[in-house]
Amino acid sequence: MLNPTKDEFPDETRYERDVRKEYGNNAIVVTWEPEFCTHVAECIRGLPGVFDPRRRPWIVVDNGSPDDIARVVQRCPTGALHFRRLDGGPEEPVPEQTTIREMPNGPLVIRGRVRITGQDRSVIREDTRVSLCRCGSSGHKPFCDGSHRRVGFRTTPPRRSDTS
Ligand code: SF4
Ligand code: FES
Repeated sequence: MLNPTKDEFPDETRYERDVRKEYGNNAIVVTWEPEFCTHVAECIRGLPGVFDPRRRPWIVVDNGSPDDIARVVQRCPTGALHFRRLDGGPEEPVPEQTTIREMPNGPLVIRGRVRITGQDRSVIREDTRVSLCRCGSSGHKPFCDGSHRRVGFRTTPPRRSDTS
């Protein structure tokens, strides 16, 4: 199973705040916020020619159609990836309903019109996709940062085939 690690992103600045990288052509621009990426690899599985963490730049939008890229970006459960269409194609829809899904041995994945505020009610994040930590070990709370894998967080009895 593809499961890139931080070692495969040696020059990434994921622990810096507010880093946002853009990869585009004249049809679509993909944005990636490293501090939200937990390397669950939905993007890599979906379009390995476009998303390849062993290549620099790791996102090459010329290697896929704008429709395919938009479809795969919307699978990103953390909201690390987003896109803007420059070719008139549809932007990401905001789901009418908000859903919260428990990931086995991992975060709560929320999809919808999500606004997370701090104790002082300032907005921390507004997005259509966020993954919230439920293992308690994230260094980027309230967001999941992938630490559940490092600490062996288990929500279900481990199975022999369970490698997440
Ligand atoms: S799908 Fe999102 S969280 Fe997963 S590796 Fe790609 S950018 Fe990171
Ligand atoms: S659930 Fe992913 S870091 Fe806690």
